[in-house]
Amino acid sequence: MGRAEKVVLAYSGGVDTTVCIPYLMNEWGVKEVITLAADLGQGDELEPIRQKALKAGVTESLVADLTAEFIQDYAFPAIQANALYENRYPLSTALARPLIAKALVEAANHYGADAVAHGCTGKGNDQVRFDVAIAALNPSLKVLAPAREWGMSREETIAYGERTGLTFPVKKSSPYSIDRNLLGRSIEAGPLENPMNEPLEEVFLMTQAIENTPDQPEYVDIGFTQGLPTSLNGAVLEPVALISQLNELVGRHGVGRIDMIENRLVGIKSREIYEAPALLVLIDAHRDLESLTLTADVSQYKRGIEETYSRLVYNGLWYSPLKLALDAFIQQTQERVTGTVRVKLFKGNARVVGRQSNLALYTEALATYSADDQFDHKAAEGFIYVWGLPTRVWSEKLRNS
Ligand code: ARG
Repeated sequence: MGRAEKVVLAYSGGVDTTVCIPYLMNEWGVKEVITLAADLGQGDELEPIRQKALKAGVTESLVADLTAEFIQDYAFPAIQANALYENRYPLSTALARPLIAKALVEAANHYGADAVAHGCTGKGNDQVRFDVAIAALNPSLKVLAPAREWGMSREETIAYGERTGLTFPVKKSSPYSIDRNLLGRSIEAGPLENPMNEPLEEVFLMTQAIENTPDQPEYVDIGFTQGLPTSLNGAVLEPVALISQLNELVGRHGVGRIDMIENRLVGIKSREIYEAPALLVLIDAHRDLESLTLTADVSQYKRGIEETYSRLVYNGLWYSPLKLALDAFIQQTQERVTGTVRVKLFKGNARVVGRQSNLALYTEALATYSADDQFDHKAAEGFIYVWGLPTRVWSEKLRNS
């Protein structure tokens, strides 16, 4: 008896997930492997990847086009939440995992598989995100993670694959570990493991080096409807097109790079390089529009929600009761977050330089220092007396005892 009869494996076409195919069958007694390659707008050709899985012996090689769903149902809510893990990482990889998990579970249900599998190692966050998401969506499915158990080095993995008849093109292998989708790229390992090493230009694909950015600034007007980005420079765009175009525009000005030491859920600190040009600018612009359209208390309370939301998504709890509850709060706040934010791009900077909304709570007649001022200055005196009363009482007591 093997560990499972029929398995749906998340497939990237890389060495690890390819070796998972014979490994599952030969070592763990799996009878049938079905692979699922997810298209998340990463720009890879999926057909050769599909063929590769067939050659490795799978019974079915699936490609799931998840890009539109990814942007609409995973990235856009995260923008409404201004989600930045540890204040910096916009979760470009983390957001994709629950969606891939959902596709795996759906395929398993459709094909009557008793398990799903992924190629994650035991050191990262992705294993947590897959395992927990799968458990949430179908708790009776088994989850197999061969690379978490096989203990093979890179060379041993390749040698194992070759013994089973797989061939791996001898391309000069990159020292980096890279994940990519339409939202961004994550680059780890190799020379980056020394946190003092500046990332070489070769690691970046979506963002220009400052040296190569245009010498003229460029403006982009981002339109939001109920907290969702809907237009660029007045042109209404579908979510996927909006992200692609904005990635291009923002990346060209060298905006969107992150270099950070990050706390993984499994206790390891790791050095991470990210590029996520559109996503970072959208969060910044969205937050700015909120400051124009939300009341002070909602806006300030939401900060705490955002922090919790970001940590929860990072830690693999996308499908969880707390996430559902936070979603309800965030949705409620977005009803009137409609308007336009103007961003100036220049030499690695993206700055919000203007914002406009018909629903703005900002009121010029109250804010102005000119003669048109409608604010009742005299009312401030009584307000401050009451506001400061506890402090006055405290100070008097301190002095007299
Ligand atoms: N540290 C990032 C995260 O946890 C990036 C993970 C990249 N994953 C990968 N398999 N290369 O979201």
